[in-house]
Amino acid sequence: MVVLLRKLRCYMTALLSSIIIVLLLYFQNSVLVFTDDSYGFISKKVQCACSICVTDRGNSHWFSERYDNKVPLLLNSTNSVLRANVSRWWKELQSNAGNYTEVVHQLFPLFPDKEHYSDAGPDRCRTCAVVGNSGNLLGSNYGPLIDFHDFVIRINKGLTEGYEKDVGSKTTHRIVYPESAVDLDNSTHLVLLPIKILDIQWLISAFTTKNITQTYRKVPSTIKANKDKVMILHPEFIRYVYDNWAEGHGRYPSTGFLTLIFALHICDEVNVFGFGATSGGIWHHYFEKILTSYETGVHAGKFENEIINRLQQENKILMHKGWT
Ligand SMILES: *[C@@H]1O[C@H](CO)[C@@H](O)[C@H](O)[C@H]1NC(C)=O
Ligand SMILES: *[C@@H]1O[C@H](CO)[C@@H](O)[C@H](O)[C@H]1NC(C)=O
Ligand SMILES: *[C@@H]1O[C@H](CO)[C@@H](O)[C@H](O)[C@H]1NC(C)=O
Ligand SMILES: *[C@@H]1O[C@H](CO)[C@@H](O)[C@H](O)[C@H]1NC(C)=O
Ligand SMILES: *[C@@H]1O[C@H](CO)[C@@H](O)[C@H](O)[C@H]1NC(C)=O
Repeated sequence: MVVLLRKLRCYMTALLSSIIIVLLLYFQNSVLVFTDDSYGFISKKVQCACSICVTDRGNSHWFSERYDNKVPLLLNSTNSVLRANVSRWWKELQSNAGNYTEVVHQLFPLFPDKEHYSDAGPDRCRTCAVVGNSGNLLGSNYGPLIDFHDFVIRINKGLTEGYEKDVGSKTTHRIVYPESAVDLDNSTHLVLLPIKILDIQWLISAFTTKNITQTYRKVPSTIKANKDKVMILHPEFIRYVYDNWAEGHGRYPSTGFLTLIFALHICDEVNVFGFGATSGGIWHHYFEKILTSYETGVHAGKFENEIINRLQQENKILMHKGWT
């Protein structure tokens, strides 16, 4: 009997110690927080090595409600099967949708099939510049500041040649679709935004048969780009941005808006350049004379703009609006 009791006490002690150790481990990253009307422990896990991290929790309820770190960002061979509701929505955006399963099967023998950007953690501080194409970049002298970032993500045809002083010269990622594609240099990731299955077919063709020359309009049959750096945005990611961030406004999100949300998922700190109008309220691309409109019918520019401003108010991004 005594032996049994002693054994039991031994077990209880061991159990209690384990519980205490687990609790200590759990709360070691917590801080005691006092606010005006309440105080308590909030779990402040160290998210990254920057001074402010995009995903720091607890500081913006608005952001946490929208941000989903589980959504697949890029297509690969293991995540390519689409949820029925994503597939339905995505196919409604296109006419004559081809056989997605067949097309996707051709993708990953051709392009790298791996997990990207899953390296977030307390030791990483990845800074990103998202560079839009707004005329407010002209005369900004932002070039050196933009190039200073780890990632410089550009959008569609936004060129650098001749505009280096204001837009920089480095490009680590360029988000394009067939109708907006341009030649890239060898160190740049081509990130395809697939609005339709034909866009994926075009990507395959551009690196193989080069026989797709037409989507809803003429497109380049091929482009210069490093095949080993090609990435394809996941249709579920496009749907997520549409639902959670654009809140169903427009038909689908604009490239600029998608790119910005993509950056929130792969970077720890996001600086935004070349978005919005000039201070005179004029919308145009820095490399073109023609005026653009932010309400195109397809995209809800006004709403997207409000969300981008809110992201700035919530300290999730820092907008650089130029001077002109
Ligand atoms: C799609 O369906 C899944 C459940 O299968 C659900 O969790 C998800 O929220 C739905 N997504 C959309 C965009 O409706
Ligand atoms: C697409 O192709 C796959 C494999 O060839 C086939 O099993 C499937 O039935 C096709 N889907 C449609 C909608 O034609
Ligand atoms: C594909 O991406 C998913 C995340 O969406 C990841 O869990 C998986 O490991 C990736 N597969 C490969 C082959 O890298
Ligand atoms: C581009 O980079 C790849 C490695 O990613 C290399 O194999 C190839 O030779 C390079 N091409 C040029 C033209 O530098
Ligand atoms: C391009 O070539 C492939 C294989 O040679 C063929 O299956 C496909 O139908 C062609 N596409 C066009 C648009 O000509």
